[in-house]
Amino acid sequence: MTPAVTIEPLITAPQIAARVGELAKTIADRLPSDLMIIALLRGSFVFTSDLIRALHLAGAQPQVDFMTLSSYGKGTSSSGEVVINRDVGEPVEGRDVLIVDDILESGRTLTFARNLLRERKAKSIRIAVLLEKPGKRQFDVTADFVGFSIEDKFVVGYGLDYANYFRELPYIGVVQE
Ligand code: IMP
Ligand code: MG
Repeated sequence: MTPAVTIEPLITAPQIAARVGELAKTIADRLPSDLMIIALLRGSFVFTSDLIRALHLAGAQPQVDFMTLSSYGKGTSSSGEVVINRDVGEPVEGRDVLIVDDILESGRTLTFARNLLRERKAKSIRIAVLLEKPGKRQFDVTADFVGFSIEDKFVVGYGLDYANYFRELPYIGVVQE
């Protein structure tokens, strides 16, 4: 059953679209065109699908793969460990990789992903996130490309979930319990 919460809009769909376009231009300018995007599921699927089309408009031709990692259970607090639920299908050795995730919070998920791709000998590893919560970092990882820095509030929409609900919202909103 859908959780009984209200959602306060924080970032509108047009604001997201404009920012994704800017990010894509920056990424296309700075990174090699033979780029391999590794999107971390499930939260980043909406962002990634908009980002790759914006990258096309910016002249890039990335390859795209997916990895499903989880560190959160059903609620809004982290379970502490990261598990690979589904791995990439392509070799990453020697590739210029851009990891795409929905949000950088403690940094646990992205640290895990970055270390894994390092072990697998990616040539370079960059990180793009739609959102970051700067005050929450527990691991030494920074994103190279950030859509929006937000306050420490639990957000949903545009792929981000609360107990796997609200991913379909076209905007980002704050969950009020
Ligand atoms: P980290 O590993 O603590 O950096 O958390 C990253 C992951 O936690 C993200 O990929 C999200 O799946 C989830 N997460 C963190 N903050 C939020 C939030 O505010 N809303 C929804 N998911 C979140
Ligand atoms: Mg996630």
